[in-house]
Amino acid sequence: MPIPRNGDISERMQALGSLHTIKNLNTQPIVIARITQMLQDPATNTDELSLAIRTDQGLTTRVLKLVNSAFYGFPGKIGSISHAVVLLGFSTVKNIVLTASVLDIFKTNSGGQFARNVWKHSLACGVAAQSLARTVEYEFQEECFVAGLLHDIGKVVLFQLAPDDFSRVVEHTDKMNTLFYDSECKILGISHQEIGGMLIEQWRLPKKILNAVSSHHNPASLEDDDSKLTAIVHCADIFARALGYGNSGDKKIPMIDDKAWDTLKLDTVNLERLFDTIESEWEKAEVYVQEL
Ligand SMILES: [Fe+2]
Ligand SMILES: [Fe+2]
Repeated sequence: MPIPRNGDISERMQALGSLHTIKNLNTQPIVIARITQMLQDPATNTDELSLAIRTDQGLTTRVLKLVNSAFYGFPGKIGSISHAVVLLGFSTVKNIVLTASVLDIFKTNSGGQFARNVWKHSLACGVAAQSLARTVEYEFQEECFVAGLLHDIGKVVLFQLAPDDFSRVVEHTDKMNTLFYDSECKILGISHQEIGGMLIEQWRLPKKILNAVSSHHNPASLEDDDSKLTAIVHCADIFARALGYGNSGDKKIPMIDDKAWDTLKLDTVNLERLFDTIESEWEKAEVYVQEL
């Protein structure tokens, strides 16, 4: 479900007290916010992007560490952002920069073990989403990685801004052995999908990513062209749970939604081979685990 622009959701957020401060959540240093804006502009070129990244030493170091990891296949060979763009392409570097900035929200909160578990689960979902996208020949494979990384970000925000409400949800989830999402809907009347969606909207990331984050637990609600990316993230979340990588607040492995299954034609996919691919990609993604 796309995020409603007014009314309903903000009223529910107000009801949660501190959550309305999401607008003030300092998740991105100014330079990253500026780069994220630049990345949405098709006219941005490599020189402009490199220059903007270089103004932030921490970001430059992090991006170079990521591009030189086994995950991208050129370990230790890339010395500058412009070199990275030549070897990996603008779109890949763009997504690495987005990832590097996403990491900050996991780092800036004091979530300790919870944030680390969600980060691992989210990373596994990103890896699974990218592998699945490749398997079903979906065009926007890197966006799948980013959307997978972000899909549960609302849980981290909830933890950070409304710790008491978060604890009530955790308690209910454990007691009833249910999905974290179902507990949120029952106890709070709002879920991490919607909260995460608001953050994505604030960051002005592409609509596809917004829809995937805000509908990954009910992909059947989407009608438009973006439903494929949402279906991929929905399945990848379930695959990450099945593989036991990380944890994002519950122990459930839900069924794959029928519409998502049909959209991706999963009948024609060799799931065993896909799981092998996800496992080997997961090992290569170690650098991202270390980053937190
Ligand atoms: Fe979720
Ligand atoms: Fe998840």
